[in-house]
Amino acid sequence: MAELPDHVAFVTGAGRGIGQATALLLARRGATVGICDRDGASVSAAVAEIRAQGGSAHGYVVDVGERQAMLDAVGKFAHEYGRLDSLIASAMWIRYEPIEDVRDEVVDRMFAVGMKAVLWAAQAARLAMQSDRGGALVTFASPVADRGHRGTAVYTAVKGAVAALTRQLAMAGDCRRGRLGSASSGDAAWKVGPAVRHRRSRCLSRFSSSLFRHRRNSPRRWRPDRRRFLIGK
Ligand SMILES: NC(=O)c1ccc[n+]([C@@H]2O[C@H](COP(=O)([O-])OP(=O)(O)OC[C@H]3O[C@@H](n4cnc5c(N)ncnc54)[C@H](O)[C@@H]3O)[C@@H](O)[C@H]2O)c1
Repeated sequence: MAELPDHVAFVTGAGRGIGQATALLLARRGATVGICDRDGASVSAAVAEIRAQGGSAHGYVVDVGERQAMLDAVGKFAHEYGRLDSLIASAMWIRYEPIEDVRDEVVDRMFAVGMKAVLWAAQAARLAMQSDRGGALVTFASPVADRGHRGTAVYTAVKGAVAALTRQLAMAGDCRRGRLGSASSGDAAWKVGPAVRHRRSRCLSRFSSSLFRHRRNSPRRWRPDRRRFLIGK
């Protein structure tokens, strides 16, 4: 029996990578999935793959950095299926380069896709999630936000902002109706010990570990970073 038969999930950056793997996994578990990406061809391909496997998916070609486009797409999807249970904000555009080469255009685009889009996702989730059911907003930080890395100044700043914004959304009660979590990946995820696990994070942790365990090509390395799990209420 499907584990998530009534679940309605919207995934940004679902055209490839972690977003796509998450969307496919959710669909295999019975969820109805909104496939959102800027790249129309990858949206069509992901939707076709889910439908070919008997799942339910609907595609949205959207630039997630544009607030109204994001609100419209999530609102339309939630309206179509009667509700929204989770919004996974995975989209990112990355340019790594030495700090002396960084220009306005790159900063603006990375912050728009990586950080502003998380704000728009939080707004969209707040509007679309029903107060009696709650829901989950999942954001993606990165270990570089904590430790830095050569050539990643802008990416590190974006992911630090995402981590801070996720904490803010949870602590200020901006996502009071739902669960809020941020996942990170890579080595740092393995360094997290049970001592830092918060009791209230168990619910989201279960949700997220089942959500993210099966990252394509490196399933054993992709685990949620529990340090960042926060729950609104
Ligand atoms: N891959 C890793 O090891 C890793 C590590 C830490 C954090 N993360 C984070 O996890 C998330 C997913 O990473 P990934 O490796 O799967 O990324 P990816 O680059 O493989 O995929 C990103 C997707 O976002 C889409 N996208 C780009 N700009 C967009 C826009 N303006 N509007 C809509 N969609 C847009 C792309 O078309 C692409 O399909 C990112 O936020 C990333 O920063 C990844």
